[in-house]
Amino acid sequence: MANLKLSTQFTDKFISDSLINTQFSNASKAKDTLLSMTGKGNEYLGWVKLPSSISSSELTKIREAAEIIQSHSQFLVVVGIGGSYLGARAVIEALSSPFQNLEVPKKGVRILYAGHHLDSDYHAQLLAFLETKEFSVNVISKSGTTTEPAIAFRLLLSLLERKYGKEGVKNRVFSTTDASKGALKKLSDDYHFPTFTIPDDVGGRYSILTPVGLLPIAAAGFSINKLVEGAKNMEAELSKDSLPKENPACVYASYRNALYSLGKKTEVMVSYSPSLAYFIEWWKQLYGESEGKDKKGIFPAGVLFTTDLHSMGQYLQEGERNLFETVIQIETPKYDLYMTEKTEDLDGLNYLAGKKLSEVSDQAVLGTLIAHSDGEVPCLQIKIPRLSEEILGELMYFYEFACGISGYMLGVNPFDQPGVEDYKNNMFALLGKKGYEARRKEILDNFGN
Ligand code: PA5
Repeated sequence: MANLKLSTQFTDKFISDSLINTQFSNASKAKDTLLSMTGKGNEYLGWVKLPSSISSSELTKIREAAEIIQSHSQFLVVVGIGGSYLGARAVIEALSSPFQNLEVPKKGVRILYAGHHLDSDYHAQLLAFLETKEFSVNVISKSGTTTEPAIAFRLLLSLLERKYGKEGVKNRVFSTTDASKGALKKLSDDYHFPTFTIPDDVGGRYSILTPVGLLPIAAAGFSINKLVEGAKNMEAELSKDSLPKENPACVYASYRNALYSLGKKTEVMVSYSPSLAYFIEWWKQLYGESEGKDKKGIFPAGVLFTTDLHSMGQYLQEGERNLFETVIQIETPKYDLYMTEKTEDLDGLNYLAGKKLSEVSDQAVLGTLIAHSDGEVPCLQIKIPRLSEEILGELMYFYEFACGISGYMLGVNPFDQPGVEDYKNNMFALLGKKGYEARRKEILDNFGN
């Protein structure tokens, strides 16, 4: 039985029974389309049964690679962009201490990231930092041709070759890419790097349970078996024959689409824990790339409360009423703190003495839910008991499945991303890449140089 609970208590007053019932019926059809693989983009549905079909030998192979990395490295640099790093980073940062990267580890491996942008300062400083450290690289690209990770990898490979020699890099580079296509596959074969394959039928943003996500997570010291187990429980829960109102993915997709039809064009994902900052980034990509097409789609945004209540709170309470919130609530923190009593109550906080910090936070959550829904911002709540590999596995699979349903309800193909190519084509043309001459001329004629 899944741990996740979805509450619509702070949304129901905005949606009529007939509207939500229509959406439930649409969600049920969309779920059937997804499971029968008869909808748009059905060649990319390999993720649907991934949790229940991933073999224990595949998991063992990934854990063994992680152990090699842990045996000789202090740092693992994960090189990838979009779906090729966000899932791993979401899990690793949700489960790690926010302060662990301040120290070089005596034991275990810290994960660093590269190739997710083109900032020269970042990459120069990363290379300078790694100069004196023991490190490995996991380069991840499904297409094997994405510019940002390819550039970062070229820079890192040069440093690795200088530090460890051509032979030495062979057990310090782990590549994750397509089975046969792309420059990264060819390069990995030429160098004899251990290589993991991304299945053809799994797109980048749905790839957390392939080696894309699993190798970095295992190297960071977390249990990939538990992550997969959680996802498997959620797969069973969501795929079973049930009424849409009893299926949390159908409920989430129905409420999102109902709210969208009422003009709520932005969904703000809210977490009260900064450890979910990258989880929100992962979710933003999943929903933004899946639904934002054909001039349609809810814009996915994210905030961290209570921090952002002091920056975005005013807008959320009283600005344009075109948004709704989805609040992820972690019911029990990993560690709790008690407020103590002071003889002189100089800060005026003695009224909190004896309370846990988490109780204070819970009241901030409730107070904000009441305030925002009073301010005409519908708020959905997703409650999870705690942060763990198993629960993150459940949560991520839940969001993937709901995204497929929601995208079909919207009438788009949730599994392609044609719009991502446009900036790349212009960048290649401007940089003088072979094959982009006509586009280069067009740009220069219109915009000069
Ligand atoms: O979800 C997607 O497909 C994209 O975000 C890709 O993950 C991203 O563009 C990186 O692509 P690649 O893995 O081919 O380098």
